[in-house]
Amino acid sequence: MTTDVRPPGIPSRPPLAERALSERVRAVPPSGIRRFFDILATMDDVISLGVGEPDFDTPSGIVEAGIRSLRAGRTHYTSNYGTIELRRALAAHLERRYGVAYDPARELLITVGASEAVDLALRATCDPGDEVVLHEPSYVAYAPAVAFAGGDVRYVSTRLEDDFALDPAAVEAAITPRTKALFLGYPCNPTGAVLPGEVQDELAAIAVRHDLLVYADEIYDRLAYGSYRHRAMSALPGMRDRTILIGGFSKAYAMTGWRVGWLAAPAGILEGIVKVHQYGIMSAPTVAQDAALEALENGETDVERMLAEYDRRRRSFVDGLNAIGLRTFESRGAFYAFPQVSVATGLSSEAFAQALLEEERVAVVPGSAFGPSGAGHVRACYATSSEQLEEALGRIGRFVDRHRVAG
Ligand SMILES: Cc1ncc(COP(=O)(O)O)c(C=O)c1O
Repeated sequence: MTTDVRPPGIPSRPPLAERALSERVRAVPPSGIRRFFDILATMDDVISLGVGEPDFDTPSGIVEAGIRSLRAGRTHYTSNYGTIELRRALAAHLERRYGVAYDPARELLITVGASEAVDLALRATCDPGDEVVLHEPSYVAYAPAVAFAGGDVRYVSTRLEDDFALDPAAVEAAITPRTKALFLGYPCNPTGAVLPGEVQDELAAIAVRHDLLVYADEIYDRLAYGSYRHRAMSALPGMRDRTILIGGFSKAYAMTGWRVGWLAAPAGILEGIVKVHQYGIMSAPTVAQDAALEALENGETDVERMLAEYDRRRRSFVDGLNAIGLRTFESRGAFYAFPQVSVATGLSSEAFAQALLEEERVAVVPGSAFGPSGAGHVRACYATSSEQLEEALGRIGRFVDRHRVAG
């Protein structure tokens, strides 16, 4: 029993243990992915399709640049914005690829991964009570980032029946007088859907019509397949001044562990975002920034080599899942397959993922972790070797045969 030691006259209140965490933090559930990684860490012989990261190591030229950086004594802070060399190279890259110009001195910020960029964008721009329209299923960090900033998410669902296409009319219907921004994470983790040109144009027109800010997390911009050609959201007419464009090096250059990403925004907005970054982080790791510079300057052949390999795996893995009887949308971007598991097996996302892990030692992530419409699906990352994927398909096939619903 705790003794109330507060002076007389001060009203009593619940014990600190019940009040220590802020309401905002308490309201956000722990990541649905986390629990599976904890179970996984205790098991042997698991094929993990759970984590969203390349199986490739960072290309050697980029690693060497990191080593050179350390050897040269570049072990100090950089400018809060990041090194000017990296910002200049990034500005040139964005101009060349997407035809959108950013001033490297005032409109680009180097961050600790796209993760930090997402968090910064929300914290710097979202006020309590502001609404953010977000498609789902989508990356697990988006809704919590809105919640931590004090905002409210208005979900727009996407479904397998429509190839997970985002319907601009549904986006517009979700807008209220409190809506501050649209959040677009395309190519999409976990569905692998992309935004076709005409849909992107309509979304841009909606943003302009309703005078909204747009957060565009385009970290998978380089991982796009077939005839799809990615366009940066900020490159569309009327969009540069209202878009916070986010990207990173983790996926395309296989640099997840280096922790380096970026954010591009008009100078007036970036100035505020940099405040949050400078007080919270100071600067992204110097060695990682130097390695990222090498990636931008000389990493193109490596990106294309890895992309071609993901594309091969994507086609055979998606075909393999469909052949097993798990209906799977043919992903157009990123490196995930998002099979529907509930119809074939009668199992929920969680039950499927848990039983598959226990019975066949294959780790996937329950689709429900990515939003309500992810229920009945699981996410499997195919950025792993063809042999492992082949073996995983065999195990999943065996599992589904055992659990298949009659009829
Ligand atoms: C859509 C999306 N955005 C951002 C991130 C975070 O990437 P980074 O390693 O750059 O922080 C991920 C990682 O899985 C992601 O899938």
